[in-house]
Amino acid sequence: MSKEIKRIAVLTSGGDAPGMNAAIRAVVRAGSYHDLHVYGISRGYEGMINGDIQRLEPRNVGNIIHRGGTFLKTARSTAFRTPEGRKSAHDSLVAHDIDAMVVIGGNGTYTGGKIFGEEYDIPIIGVPGTIDNDICGTDWTIGYDSAVNTAMECVDRIRDTAESHSRTFFVEVMGRHSGFIALSTAVATGAGRVLIPESTEGSLEKTIDFLKKSMKRKKQFSLIIVAEGNPVGGAAEIAELVSTEIPAMEARVAVIGHLQRGGSPTRIDRIIASRMGYGAVEGLLKGQHNVAVGLVNDQLTYTPLTEAIGDAKPVSKEMMSLAEILAL
Ligand code: F6P
Repeated sequence: MSKEIKRIAVLTSGGDAPGMNAAIRAVVRAGSYHDLHVYGISRGYEGMINGDIQRLEPRNVGNIIHRGGTFLKTARSTAFRTPEGRKSAHDSLVAHDIDAMVVIGGNGTYTGGKIFGEEYDIPIIGVPGTIDNDICGTDWTIGYDSAVNTAMECVDRIRDTAESHSRTFFVEVMGRHSGFIALSTAVATGAGRVLIPESTEGSLEKTIDFLKKSMKRKKQFSLIIVAEGNPVGGAAEIAELVSTEIPAMEARVAVIGHLQRGGSPTRIDRIIASRMGYGAVEGLLKGQHNVAVGLVNDQLTYTPLTEAIGDAKPVSKEMMSLAEILAL
């Protein structure tokens, strides 16, 4: 029988995402509701290795639900990839008598958590915190909605200039290996074309064709959204390739970058973060080990970490057709 869980730790790791604070708050308060001692680990796995661990009481997580970033801070730890690093991290947990962990982050965080959980037989539960939305076993990751809203606002502003100057803007949004942010931003801003890693075949040619046709029918300006992980090229490369084919087109490039990682989380992110943080604690207490919490069809679910980081999460085919059809 597994050990009774009395003390849990929570950390955020990898890229920060709006809503991570709301998730930490939920873990601390749900844990406290169940009379658990909750500890916060600073700077992700790096802080775990260095023993940067503190008790968190419900009042310590007041006034953070609306804040972007993560008050626990975060890091991408290379030391945790080594057995020596994980051994030091385990020593820190033992020093604080910690029985289980909630790890909030993306693929890298889950991979580290899975290896550590198996190596030291400690229950780990993942909470999906990444703007990329590229985690299986959940419809939404924490931060994705906020990032898309920010990208959408940026593109709306760029549209003003595009229209005023009759220019074509190539706007690059984040998404290391995935096109979720790009596709949603494209649909939400009515962009002409979107280039994402999930659909590369003929994407450059189709973009050139689209822009040639637009010019023929005297369309004054265009917005093209490019996912940063697009293998054919980022916004700058695509703009250059297209400009060679259509020299008459006045092209400009805008990279939204880290702007879309910051800022106050949206209503959706605050609520899903609260639900998933709570769900993580409930899951641990009900014996869920080495799984990730998620929301599928608005229901809390638990998916083995192996599956959550397994296959690439597919983007919606319906959204892909929609982006194309509505841009006619
Ligand atoms: O994973 C989230 C993300 O924002 C990606 O979209 C992006 O490629 C990456 O993090 C950037 O990471 P960093 O802030 O470490 O440069």
